[in-house]
Amino acid sequence: MGIRFPEKTTLFRTKTIPELMECCRGEHALKKVLGPLELVFFGVGAIIGTGIFVITGIAAATYAGPALAVSFVISGAACLFAALCYAEFAAMVPVAGSAYTYSYASLGEIWAWIIGWDLILEYSVSIAVVAIGWSGYMASFLRDAGMALPAALANPPGMNGGVVNVPAILIIALITLLLISGVKQSARVNTVIVAIKISVVIFFIFLGAGYVDPANWTPFVPFGWAGVVTGAAIVFFAYIGFDAVSTTAEEVRNPGRDLPIGILGSLIICTILYIVVCLILTGMVPYTLLSTAAPVAFAMERVGITWGAEIISVGAVLGITSVMLVLLYGQSRIFFAMSRDGLLPRAFSKVHPVLKTPVRVTILVGSITAILAGLLPLESMAELVNIGTLAAFIIVAAGIIVLRKTSPDAERPFRCPLVPLIPVMAVIFCAYLILALPTITHLRFVVWLVIGLLIYFSYGTRRTKSAPSSAR
Ligand code: ALA
Repeated sequence: MGIRFPEKTTLFRTKTIPELMECCRGEHALKKVLGPLELVFFGVGAIIGTGIFVITGIAAATYAGPALAVSFVISGAACLFAALCYAEFAAMVPVAGSAYTYSYASLGEIWAWIIGWDLILEYSVSIAVVAIGWSGYMASFLRDAGMALPAALANPPGMNGGVVNVPAILIIALITLLLISGVKQSARVNTVIVAIKISVVIFFIFLGAGYVDPANWTPFVPFGWAGVVTGAAIVFFAYIGFDAVSTTAEEVRNPGRDLPIGILGSLIICTILYIVVCLILTGMVPYTLLSTAAPVAFAMERVGITWGAEIISVGAVLGITSVMLVLLYGQSRIFFAMSRDGLLPRAFSKVHPVLKTPVRVTILVGSITAILAGLLPLESMAELVNIGTLAAFIIVAAGIIVLRKTSPDAERPFRCPLVPLIPVMAVIFCAYLILALPTITHLRFVVWLVIGLLIYFSYGTRRTKSAPSSAR
């Protein structure tokens, strides 16, 4: 298969909003069952997870110290600016595919492909990262219960005598089955998990507040401003997921109103919880001790509340499960939209006649992420996920400015305020965080983009619906 360079007009061809809406009718229609509360829960389901329960510890001990709360404010601000842009797009173009679809509408096919490729990093790789974290927690639970798994079955090849990470594969398989069974059922399971997870976070806040020793907040910025910003780029992972709300667009009853509520509501709730948790965490324990895999539970244990630590561990495992659930859902909807457009094989955009879910593409995403999670030591990939997501946010923000110019009269049920200021702030904040990531992450990201472009020029340009039919 050779590389095909299409006409410039094809590369930058955009789809009009009516064209985009046309794709989601007939045999490619998904069932509209979700309401505003479910969407807020979807967002929180995807957001609160490994970031707050695991990554905060390393970020405080290595980069930010007690100023970790400031790192969360910086990352939260970047996300809030981006979320306002997402909300405008999601309400205006309520089509599965999220940022991929928005860039098709505003910037053109090649940008849509690049962003779709970035979103694979954001979703698929984070599902694998999060599944590995889940497997670690599970293995330690089973060990404590006297049912230790053999090392060969709990680690990837080349790590601690591992062959394959079975718990990581099993949890992804289970979630895939749930998602196939129907979006309403999945949303119900998610709502229960999220209610427990929020309760656990609030439990930590109220119980932990009594053990704060303000002396632990001094020095507040031990590693200087650079440390705070690097900390922000690392903990950005904790915010990933609010944008997954936008991938539900075709399954929402009243998208123009409910998607902005879901996106902004979930992000605001989590930002507030995160900042308070950070202040309490670094107030309970000297930051130097926080470099552990379970910092929140550790803080409880250190002040002598062992039962509290156990409750938090259960909340963390459940919380991490819903992150996988929503991200797997999101990835399958993005692939679904890309395949419907012909940029991925079309067979994947079939909707099951009875379940009304895209079964094939959900199994595809489940299989890819299960293989990644079962075989690769992916812990260090979180930074790559961050850079892919930050790049996607920049493209979405730029898309808002472009679409306000090219389609000023399009119906916008939600309007991002202060355009172009807010999108420009999103670009500046996200670019600043990208620069704060390590150079090796930048290089890995460039390699990822080059692979993506090779696939686009050798497959996508032949198969896209915008290609001449003789070329498909
Ligand atoms: N925000 C999600 C988490 O922290 C990806 O696990």
